[in-house]
Amino acid sequence: MEDKLRHLLTELYKETPCMPIVVRLAWHDSGSYCARTKTGGANGTIRFSPEADFGANNGLGIARNLLEPIKKAVPEVSYADLYQLGSVVAIEFAGGPKIPFRFGRKDLPQEKCSPDGRLPDATKRMPHLREIFSRMGFDDKGIVVLSGAHALGRARKERSGFDGPWTSDPLVFDNSYYQEILKEDPDPKLLRLASDMALLDDAENRKLVELYAADKDAFFKDYVEQHVKLSELGMMA
Ligand code: HEM
Repeated sequence: MEDKLRHLLTELYKETPCMPIVVRLAWHDSGSYCARTKTGGANGTIRFSPEADFGANNGLGIARNLLEPIKKAVPEVSYADLYQLGSVVAIEFAGGPKIPFRFGRKDLPQEKCSPDGRLPDATKRMPHLREIFSRMGFDDKGIVVLSGAHALGRARKERSGFDGPWTSDPLVFDNSYYQEILKEDPDPKLLRLASDMALLDDAENRKLVELYAADKDAFFKDYVEQHVKLSELGMMA
């Protein structure tokens, strides 16, 4: 099953470069996790209303629709696994690291949709990001490392109210996100959210940003570790 899924996902990305939105879909499914109540997580409920209709999830129906023919071709895969595998194959396809993947996420029913407000607000800085990410079980390093996924993709006015990509090549997964947020003379065509610039607020976090900007391998190594954790949130619950 894994080989077939990887093949179908790779064919999709060759035809339609939707890697960024699939990465966002997977993260918005799993990022609803609450470690205290053991609710939310990578469980496929993002495809149901009301979760699908939360403002934070605007546009993600596009990713779900693109993945649906693959679910039809391999019905034994859960949506939760398909979204997460879609994300790791997307990152690898875009030049990022190879991320280990385990199957076994269960799809939960519509009644188990996560409540609204569990995903981060892009207009806020570290205190808010800490509150959101610590609920999932991440520390500051997790926030700094996972934000590097904004090397991929862009914001769209009609989806989030923001506009533009973070990097000059938004279909390539590399460490350029960190290089861009450190620039004193930012490229006006590129996006910087308050939540991106928040990574520079604390000296320790800034040091990490500087390390990742200078050393792609160090970023990839830490990214793999944090992404595996993100992709498995709620998996064992
Ligand atoms: C740190 C807090 C975060 C905030 C506030 C945030 C916010 C946003 C916003 C506002 C967008 C634009 C959505 C649109 O207009 O379509 C976006 C896109 C995106 N985000 Fe995040 N994000 C965060 C963390 C993450 C994480 C942890 C990941 C993955 C590990 C991620 C992956 C992406 C990707 C790949 C896109 C591009 C989607 C596309 O091109 O369609 N983000 N994010």
